[in-house]
Parts: sequence; structure tokens; C-alpha cells
Amino acid sequence: MTQKSAKPKVLVTRRIPEKGLALLRDRVELDIWDYDEVPIPQEELYARAPHLDGIIALLSDSMDKDFFFRAPKLKVVSNYAVGYDNIQVAEAAKRHIVVTNTPDVLTEATADIAFGLILGASRRMGEAERLVRKGAWKSWGPTLLLGQDVYGATLGIVGLGRIGRAVARRARGFSMKILHTGHTQEDDPETGSRWVPLEELLASSDILSLHCPLNEDTRHLINRNTLKLMKPSAVLVNTGRGGLVHQEDLYEALARGVITAAGLDVFDPEPFPADHPLLSLENVLALPHIGSASVAAREGMAVLAAENLLAVLEGREPPCRVTP
Ligand code: GLV
Ligand code: GLV
Repeated sequence: MTQKSAKPKVLVTRRIPEKGLALLRDRVELDIWDYDEVPIPQEELYARAPHLDGIIALLSDSMDKDFFFRAPKLKVVSNYAVGYDNIQVAEAAKRHIVVTNTPDVLTEATADIAFGLILGASRRMGEAERLVRKGAWKSWGPTLLLGQDVYGATLGIVGLGRIGRAVARRARGFSMKILHTGHTQEDDPETGSRWVPLEELLASSDILSLHCPLNEDTRHLINRNTLKLMKPSAVLVNTGRGGLVHQEDLYEALARGVITAAGLDVFDPEPFPADHPLLSLENVLALPHIGSASVAAREGMAVLAAENLLAVLEGREPPCRVTP
């Protein structure tokens, strides 16, 4: 008689779109943390850790040494995100745990939100909407809510990777001059973007958009000193990670007119406290980390996260591996 082998045990730390879960149902023993949009508490995560063969984690789950220590059977952390600053990747690699992510499927959706923030922050749409809703719109006004032009402006991109390049492609339709900085030090023929050093990018950009990963080199890249190099009319857009920006310095800069506006989809921490001084400013357009929040992108992420996870558990090479 053949013994039926036990299915691998997998935790998904929030309900993700069914297209991804459907791939998993027959092939793993599935546990989904699904309580009212609240992240899994650490004690619940730790209680499950000893039994887990795999996990699909969110960017709000800290996948660190302490968790790995409690999860001796763990073979794969499939991150439901392209960014993986929530994971101690070197620690995972040391334990032969494979880390995977979900690039590509969310590139265009995130670039759409970045461009939305470029337009919205430059043309003061958040402030304008609040004015209409408050009943404070008195009449059409020659000087009412004048903002900065996007068409024809100079766009500076920090990190011309997949999403940065997708933003640059959109910018071409707005006849923007495009500059970027990053490790490669090369111009980009596809988008016509020219590489410049960071200082030049800061000084030349009408709109600066952040698309680099968060790591020890990029944490607080935007701070008092770098903000000072920007134009007083400049607009900062961040759809990367909150930690790229020193938020108290940004508050000071926006309050004192060092730069003119900011459009932010990411914060540190998240959720961001509503009473933070930054959110008292009219020239901040704030979104709750919805860069990849389109139906198609989130379905694509769910399918890819499931495929990554199954590949590792079934001894195949995952489509999107992060660990070496
Ligand atoms: C979202 O921020 C992601 O990294 O996928
Ligand atoms: C604007 O609405 C204009 O007609 O000038």
C-alpha cells in the first residue's frame, strides 16, 4: 500500500485574490489569515512558524531572523510585492530559504499612480477637491489654485528600473525632458532619459519621482540637505517606500517653501498617523500605498506569488527569485 505523502503547509498572511489561492488549494494545506484587513499579530505568526513549509507574506510582515529561527522547516518566503525590504534576505539565504517577489505584473499600475501623483500634486488636485467639498469654491478665479505645469517640465527619476522606466514612457507623452540617476550611469535610449549625478538631478528637476528600492544606501535619500538642492517650485513624488524620505525634513521643506508640493503613496510607518504634521499641509497629496491596487495587477501578483511558492515547494526554479 502506498502512503499518501502529506501536503506542504502554507500560510498566506492575508486574503489575496482567488486566482492565486485557486492554484494552491489542491497542492498545499492552506491557512489564510483573514481578519478584517489587520496584519497577522506576531504571536499568531510565531505560533504557526514551526509547522510551515512556505509562506506568502505581505510587505507589512517582518520576515526576520527571529521568525526564521522559529520556522526550521520553512523553504520559501513568497513576497506578495515587488519590494522586499520587509525581509532579511541574507538571513533567509543563510538558512537556504528561497525568497521570491512579484515584479512586472504591477509595473504599469504603479506607474499610473506615480503619474497620477505627478499631475495631482503639481496641479494641487487634493487641495482643490477639499475646497469644493468644503463649500469654499466662490467663483472661477484667475489666480485660484495655480500650480506647476507638467507638460514640458523636467522629470527627474531616481532609479530607472521597471517602474521608473514605465513612468518615463508616460512622461514622453507629456513632452517632458527626462533625467535619471542610478547605479548604471547610462543614458536610456528607449525613453530618451539622460543619466546625471544625484546633485544635478535634484537641481534640474521640476518633478522628482522616486523608484529605487529601500536599503541602507537609499534610506533618507531625501533629507534636509538634498531637499535644499531642489528648486522652490519642485514637486516630489514617492511611490517607492516611505523610508526613502526623511519625513520631518520634508515637512519642514514643504512648510517653508523649500519645495512646492509632494505626492506620497508610501509612508514610514504604514498606516501613517493622521495627526502627523505632514498631513496638516495643503501641499501634500497623500494616498494609502495603492500603487499596485488595480484589479488586474493584484490578480497578477496573486498568481505569480502562488507560482513562485509552488515552484520552490515542488523542487522547480521559481519565476522570480530574490535570494542568490
Ligand atoms: C508595493 O509596494 C510592492 O513592493 O509591491
Ligand atoms: C477655463 O476653464 C477657461 O475656459 O479658460
